[in-house]
Amino acid sequence: MKPILLLALTLLCLGHATGQPRPQETPYVPTADNLSARTEFQDAKFGIFLHWGLYSMVGAGEWVMTNRNIHRDEYAKLAQAFYPAHFDADEWVAAIKAAGARYITITTRHHDGFSLFNSAVSPYNVVEATPFQRDIIGELAKACAHHGIRLHLYYSHLDWYRTDYPLGRTGLGTGRTAHQANWESYYHFMNTQLTELLTHYGPIGAIWFDGWWDHDADPQPFNWQLPAQYALIHSLQPRCLVANNHHQTPFEGEDVQIFERDLPGENTAGLSGQDISRLPLESCQTINDHWGYNLTDSNYKSTRELIGMLVRAAGKNANLLLNIGPEPGGRLPAAALTRLKEMGEWLAQYGPTLYGTRGGWVAPHAWGVTTQKGNHLYVHLLDAPDASLFLPLGKRKPLRALHYATGREVKFTRHADGITLHLGKVPTEIDCVVDLIF
Ligand code: GLC
Repeated sequence: MKPILLLALTLLCLGHATGQPRPQETPYVPTADNLSARTEFQDAKFGIFLHWGLYSMVGAGEWVMTNRNIHRDEYAKLAQAFYPAHFDADEWVAAIKAAGARYITITTRHHDGFSLFNSAVSPYNVVEATPFQRDIIGELAKACAHHGIRLHLYYSHLDWYRTDYPLGRTGLGTGRTAHQANWESYYHFMNTQLTELLTHYGPIGAIWFDGWWDHDADPQPFNWQLPAQYALIHSLQPRCLVANNHHQTPFEGEDVQIFERDLPGENTAGLSGQDISRLPLESCQTINDHWGYNLTDSNYKSTRELIGMLVRAAGKNANLLLNIGPEPGGRLPAAALTRLKEMGEWLAQYGPTLYGTRGGWVAPHAWGVTTQKGNHLYVHLLDAPDASLFLPLGKRKPLRALHYATGREVKFTRHADGITLHLGKVPTEIDCVVDLIF
């Protein structure tokens, strides 16, 4: 380990032990590098989430270990058979890039505690514990660098395998007991793994935490010591964004606000009652109904629905992080690949109306959303009920209105408080985009 990292880790531990001022006691001021990484993140708009691990072999989602109360010793035997012969990082990244996604977020260690990367502090990892013996995160990092796509890393705060993790409200049937808990040891383990992830695999776009909520029902508030952990991340890679899927308004030290299964401001899944912050926003969604590979889940969203989700996210100033659960053999499911390809074809044409834009000043409506960039306001008609549409633009009047796909002029009439677009017919395309030029 490099001396500077050793020093950073030692300081983290010392700060805790001696009660000296720790990084969390000073308010978080993002660096200029971090702010520019946030802008780049917001410009990217579309990422692919990958949930892959030992659970993929069981084909019942990534919660199977706790859902079926599988003992940690039995679950760990899956590692002895983990051999995804078809895994080809280059193929994955090429397909994801061709879909128009600009970053990949992959589970480096999910709640089951198994590491998909080589780790000196846990032999329960893909290189040491499986016959495959290949560092999946390493191969993916290389392919991402080669294809020019950002790599983000999911990291679980909770752990159903390790005995030093203090028991929360999930994973109670996996063979661990409360008296084995050792927070100091577990916290040190996590920070060492995070250091490995941020020093062995090149530039990392974000660390995406999950599992904070495992202790949200504790009688006393649980101290995850997040600010010091976040400071460690920022000190190792200032451009690395910190995101946490805690379903709360962001905590000090975070750079992105996450929404799970809903767009900001919506709450159909019951996880998103929190306020919307001023941080860059990201909404994660499943392509079918599960995160990890599920043998019986063929309920894939259609390409039209997925494009609608991406566009509606952009209209709400958020990125879409669309999840795929790779198969146990190492392939991306065919149904996902078809959709990726179709999304890519669509984005090849419509990308400029999304990438680099921000949510438009006309609020989202049932008919669709708006995005803006420079002197353009892109009106995305996803579900327009009529051939004419009133847009509440206030006093701002466009110079021209163009049908984005054909470049043809769209007629409009001006009113005191907006304009009415005359489309000629009710649009039937996935997204009828009208480019308003000011
Ligand atoms: C939830 C689940 C987890 C999944 C995540 C993705 O927090 O616990 O399994 O990885 O959502 O958003």
